[in-house]
Amino acid sequence: MTTTKRTLTMADRKSLAQVLQQRREKLAAQFPAPVLLWSGQSSSRNFPANTFPFRASSHFLYFAGLPLENAAIRLEQGKLALFMDGGSPASALWHGESPTPAAIAVQIGADAVYPLADLKQMAAGCATILVQDGATRALQSQLLHRAIAPIDESDSLDRQLIQAIVALRLTHDHQALEELRQAAAISVEAHKAGMRATPMAKTEAEVRAAMEAVILAYNATTAYTSIVTVHGEVLHNNHYHHALRSGDLLLADVGAEVPSGWASDITRTWPVSGKFSPTQRSLYEVVLQAHDRCIAAMRPGVEYRDIHLLAAQTIAEGLVDLGILRGKAEDLVERDAHALFFPHGVGHLLGLDVHDMEDLGDLAGYAEGRTRSDRFGLCYLRLDRPLQPGMLVTIEPGFYQVPAILNDVDRRETYHDMVNWERLAEFQDVRGIRIEDDVLVTETGTEILTKELPTQADAIEQLISQPK
Ligand code: GLY
Ligand code: MN
Repeated sequence: MTTTKRTLTMADRKSLAQVLQQRREKLAAQFPAPVLLWSGQSSSRNFPANTFPFRASSHFLYFAGLPLENAAIRLEQGKLALFMDGGSPASALWHGESPTPAAIAVQIGADAVYPLADLKQMAAGCATILVQDGATRALQSQLLHRAIAPIDESDSLDRQLIQAIVALRLTHDHQALEELRQAAAISVEAHKAGMRATPMAKTEAEVRAAMEAVILAYNATTAYTSIVTVHGEVLHNNHYHHALRSGDLLLADVGAEVPSGWASDITRTWPVSGKFSPTQRSLYEVVLQAHDRCIAAMRPGVEYRDIHLLAAQTIAEGLVDLGILRGKAEDLVERDAHALFFPHGVGHLLGLDVHDMEDLGDLAGYAEGRTRSDRFGLCYLRLDRPLQPGMLVTIEPGFYQVPAILNDVDRRETYHDMVNWERLAEFQDVRGIRIEDDVLVTETGTEILTKELPTQADAIEQLISQPK
């Protein structure tokens, strides 16, 4: 393994507490009212000690730094009070001893620590953000004595808190970037393992296993359910039973999440046989050109929407050159014809979540005053803001032959003069191609956190031909 395994040293811990303190102070500068954030709790599958994996709320993680289960933090004027109980004897029996709340308080630089029961007296007047799990949601409403809307449209305190947190989490500090780089490095290694495992693998599941083995060996987890499929036309395909056939393209969208919760998100598409067919290679080059052009155009101040449109334009141009689309690329994009084959947005924010802050609807992704278009070619655009230094986004153009789109009677009618269906039929060995990297916006341009994983078709073929 090429990534260095690391455990937190005292210096790291000190700097974690300092970074958390800085985040709290930044929040206080924008939002002076008290804030209560809950971590959430896992649910049981069928009996209490058989739990689904716990994932702390990302808003909690951002300020608390540790994935503490069933805990809450109260933030006010840069001070942090931690609310959690010590482990019960039953929890120690089934899940092991846990550090005491006092020890955790020191680690995260809390100013005070209380048992959970004390939340009752200290919740009044606090703003909050809803967590994902139902049990904690009910507790939030009960303790704050009010209903909490998931995405409050009014100018409420909760809405103002969301805006302040979005402003902070849109760009990443030094500590976050260190964790994000680690997640990216693990994911790069997982993808290389997947490519190398392909010649010996008989099913998608075997390639997925090779990829996730790398992630698990770093004591990381997957940031989302892995997509490893020969049916890449299903954008989030979570089935792994298909046999690998020599003419197939395999699309792998797999990303690691490190224990602190920071994520990565990479997609590569490679030929099962180790060699792209001429038709696969020509469409792969179209998608790669869109990927490369988008990244080259990124710098602070550039609108992400324009990056999306650049991807659309490049794909339309490439498909015209291949004889699949007819007309001028600008006109085709204007009429959303590119979306027949590239029906999603070019990417999204990345941070503590893979679609970072999408629990807040479009409040993070869309700048104030902007709303999502319902146009076929823009409705899945998840980010519509000018790029800022410190923002991490994915760039993930694709080409897909989605039966539900291409066989839709209305769409065929709308686009009948723009698509050469006979020519398209010659590309039947391409169901889905996506190429995705994690791109950090810097002061002057970009840094690709996942650049160690090749995108060039030749380099990918070479990796596949080096089985472990
Ligand atoms: N990694 C899946 C996605 O970006 O939607
Ligand atoms: Mn993605």
